[in-house]
Formats: sequence, C-alpha cells, structure tokens
Amino acid sequence: MCGIVGYVGSKQAVEVVMEGLARLEYRGYDSAGVALVSDGELSTAKRAGKLVNLRNLLEEEAPPAGTLGMGHTRWATHGPPNDRNAHPHTDCSGSVAVIHNGIIENFATLRAELEERGHGLASDTDTETVAHLLEEELKGGIGLAEALRRVCRRLEGAFTLVAVHASDPELVVGARRNSPLVVGLGDGENFLASDVAAFIAHTRNAMELGQDQVVELRRDGVTVTDFDGKPAEVKEYHVDWDVSAAEKGGYDYFMLKEIAEQPRAVADTLLGRIGADGRLTLDEMRITDQELREVDKIIIVACGTSYHAGLIAKYAIEHWAGLPCEVELASEFRYRDPILSRTTLVIAISQSGETMDALMAVRHAREQRAKLLGICNVNGSTLPRECDGVLYTHAGPEIAVASTKAFLTQLVAVYLIALYIAQVRGTKWGDEVFAMIQLLERMPEKVEKVLETMEPVRALARSLADERSVLFLGRHVGFPVALEGALKLKELAYMHAEGFAAGELKHGPIALIEEGLPVIVVVPPRARDVLHDKIVSNIQEIRARGARTIVIAEEGDHSVDPYADTLISVPAVPTLLQPLVTTVPLQVFACELATAKGHDVDQPRNLAKSVTVE
Ligand code: F6R
Repeated sequence: MCGIVGYVGSKQAVEVVMEGLARLEYRGYDSAGVALVSDGELSTAKRAGKLVNLRNLLEEEAPPAGTLGMGHTRWATHGPPNDRNAHPHTDCSGSVAVIHNGIIENFATLRAELEERGHGLASDTDTETVAHLLEEELKGGIGLAEALRRVCRRLEGAFTLVAVHASDPELVVGARRNSPLVVGLGDGENFLASDVAAFIAHTRNAMELGQDQVVELRRDGVTVTDFDGKPAEVKEYHVDWDVSAAEKGGYDYFMLKEIAEQPRAVADTLLGRIGADGRLTLDEMRITDQELREVDKIIIVACGTSYHAGLIAKYAIEHWAGLPCEVELASEFRYRDPILSRTTLVIAISQSGETMDALMAVRHAREQRAKLLGICNVNGSTLPRECDGVLYTHAGPEIAVASTKAFLTQLVAVYLIALYIAQVRGTKWGDEVFAMIQLLERMPEKVEKVLETMEPVRALARSLADERSVLFLGRHVGFPVALEGALKLKELAYMHAEGFAAGELKHGPIALIEEGLPVIVVVPPRARDVLHDKIVSNIQEIRARGARTIVIAEEGDHSVDPYADTLISVPAVPTLLQPLVTTVPLQVFACELATAKGHDVDQPRNLAKSVTVE
C-alpha cells in the first residue's frame, strides 16, 4: 500500500527522499508528501495526486536544506485522497511529523479522546492521531523513540509508522506491526523504507525488522527494541539485485520490461534446484522429506494473480504428487472453518510477502498447527518469517502494479514443489519426474519464443481498444489462465472482462454472447484430446451466436482454424506447463490495449502494489 522513506546522513534529505519515493510510487499514488528537519525547524510539503505534483510544489517553494527527512506516497484508507489527508501529519505545535502505512483500528476512540483533551485534528486520517498522541507523551520529557513505543502499545491494527521531531535533526524513528519496514545500512547514512527499492541506489546492505519493533535511526548507527524498550535481535542481509533492476532500462513502462524479463525470471527460479543427477533439491525449503511424506492434504491460500497461480498448482499437485489440494482466497480462508491438522500443508503464495490477507490466513493456519510453506519473491518480507519453510521465486523486483513475471515464477515454484513431493513420496516414477524437469528447463526458451511473436497480439489489442467487454474462456489449467487474462484487462484497461470455465458456458454465461463480442479462448494441447475437442465445440457454439473468436492454441493445431477469427499460436508444451506460454499473450494484450486507451499501465487507478491492509 503506502510507500515510506526515511533518511539521515550527509546528503540533501529532500533529494534522497524524493528519489526513494519515485521508486516506491508503485505502492500507492493518491498523494505524496515529505517532512524535513533543519535548524530546529520542521517543514512539510504535500500534494494530492501523483508524485509529480509534489515535485512541482517543491520546485515552486524551495525546501530547506537539511540532512534528515522522510517521505510518503499514499494509498488512501481513511479520508479522500486530497492535500489535507496527504501525509505527513503533524501535532498541534507542528513539531512532530508522522507518516504511516496500514490501518489503526482503534483510531476513532483515540481521536475522540484527543478531541476531548483539546487537540484540533486537521485531517480525516487515522494517522494524525499518532502525531497528537506523540505530542502528549513528549510533554512528559521523554525522547521520541520512547514516546513512539508508548504510543504503539496503545494502537490496534496494522501499522508502519515513521516520525521526526523539529528539535532533533539527527534522529528518525520507526515502528512496525504487521506492515513492512526495512532498514538500509549505509556508510555515514542510514535509511528506512517500505522496501529496499527506495535505497538500493545507495546501499545493498539491509536489516529486517521483526514484528512490534521500534528502530532509532542515526547517521552513525541503528538501534532496535521491542515495544517495551528491550533490545531486539535483528537480521542483516545483502540484497541480491542492484539499482538497474529497479529502473525501466529503456522501456516505456516497468510492465513492458517485466513481461520481457520472463524468460530470465523463469530460468533464475529453476537455477540451483536441479541436481547433477537430474533430481530436484529444495533443501532451502526447510521442510523435511519426512514431514512431506506425512502430509495428507494441501491447502493453498493467496490473493489476485497469486491465487490464479494457486489454482494452477492444484492440477499439478493432484496429478504429480497425488495429494488432495484445495485452493482458497486468502481473504476468505479464516472466515470459514477450514479443517486443518498437523498433517495439512498450507502453501501461501505471495509475490510481496506482505499481503495482509495472506499473512492472516497463515497465522490462522498456524493456530490449527498446520505446516506452513511460503512461495515469495521478496527476501526480508514478512511471509517467509511466518512460515516453516519458503521457496523463493527469483523474478527480481516487480515494480509495475500488475503482476506478470512474478506469476510465471510462481508457476515454476509450484511445479517444483509438486514434482519434489512426487519425488519424495514416490507417486511418480523417477524417470517421469526427471522427464518433466527436463521439459521445465526448456520453458525459458519457449516463453522467449512467445515474446518474439507478439506483434499481431499488440495489433489486435489496439483494434479492440473501443470495445466495452471481453470474455475469456478456458478449461482445466486454461481456466485459471482465462481468469488471469480477465484480471489483467480489468485492472489495466478498466474494461469489463470476465474469465469462465468453458464447460460452464451453457449454464448461464452464454447469454452474454452477442454479435461481435470478443471472446478469447485458451485451447489445451491436442494431446489432451477429449478436453481439446470439447473446447473446440465451445468455440463453435459461441461463434454460432456471433462472438468474435480469438483463439490461443498450440502451433500446428489446425483443428481450430475454421472457427478462429484470430489465431494466436504458442509453442507446444505439456498441458500442465501450458499456462507458462498461454498467459504471456494475455499480458501483452492487456498491456497494449490499456496503453492504446492512454492509461498508465504501471500505476492503474485505485490500485497499489502490495495490499498491506485487509
Ligand atoms: C494483479 C496483482 C494482484 C496481486 C495480489 C496479491 O496483477 O498484482 O492481484 O497478485 O494483490 O499480491 P501478492 O502476490 O504480493 O500477495
């Protein structure tokens, strides 16, 4: 959700903070603001809208020189996205400034109490209460860090908070509960940020903060305690990518770059996981083979695109590993009564590792004593810490809000897990597993081939820019691919788009078909003859009712030629691996169509990259 940056060092803070915010803007872009401390003065500047509005404001009203500051990009939760509600928020005296990511659930009570005690609150936000609570604590003569610890003990909900005070040009304090915050360790300078992208141009040395911790950041050191002030143990790590990975590298949009990076991302996620003998080695997963042998049910929890990866995982796990597998939207999971035991393996899939719904689902599963495995793309994020084991995807930083390369690498991760369980439990013959691994290793080249043939897809997308609606159909693993294609189009082009299981058509959705309606159909490989032939019949049924059929089928599948108004060919691969090649044209299609409509595909309206509130 919101993006947070804090800095203390010897550089001009406003420059460091604005540069960091530019790298974090994908987390929220309803408004942006900065607070700077110099010469005993606190100054703030904030503006509704994208970061460029704040940049223009700072150009008009030159900010004070100073080497300590913090900044925020907002994804609105409490109060509309206007200047007044933009962060930072200050106390009555204008001496303390606070920025925040998350939701303070008891803010209404705290606000009422503050108002009763005479505080005037200037915004509709939950955040502003923290500035006033700090003001009260500071009156007792304690320091800013202790004041923040005391305030945090009174807050309910999820929050990352960062605060600065006019009288201390050497100190930035931060606190974290259920919401991301990492420390960047520089030479004579230190950073706080929602993710490492904000400071990657300055340092690749980072420190993970745990739950309920407060950090004091000075130019020459960092101190971390829990909310009671006891010193906390923290883990330092080195970020394995550099600043070029967080830049557009010549592409107009991050999304275009990330789509193009998919062959490499798939290859990197396979790297080091296949031994010289062709067997899988997933030791890093931290779940023993014996534990995997004891598993009798798998439940996958995830949101959005990651949920679609989970739906595909179900087919692979049931087919290869021979285990029953349920897939659940993480946001729904803990509100029903899932039946879990010590022999249930819960797999949580999350690119960011910070999605609150996924984290809450994991915590719920832990209470029921299930084994927990995370699939995650961000080192140092919360999800891996909350799981028994983790399999990292190696997509590199995904900055465009719509997920692309992370999705393909999540698929690779779930294939690896399903095949590994098959290997451990002996549910498939060793040579079958080995053959599938060899095919997986060839997938980067297949994805590359898809990317090389995307020009007609782009032309098609441009020609459909004025349509009101597009439907997507698939069967088997093609069904989640259809859902993913529809999600991409909705979020980027703001068009009505829906994915259906083709077999469900006649049970209702076929009523939507009208003359000229574009329908994209994902056709399974010919080798799956019954499935294949059934969907070819579905194509005929919708075409007979006037649909404009856009068919994605494997190369050489001429059986679809007579019924396809447009044919998109993808390399032939086994059915279960087909989503790796059929999803790519749908990503390209949505991206191009949205661009043709003039939308910013990196920052679609109302969205933010990682959803850190429920
Ligand atoms: C869609 C998209 C979202 C995310 C979802 C989960 O393009 O990006 O639907 O997939 O918010 O995010 P993670 O994977 O970070 O938990």
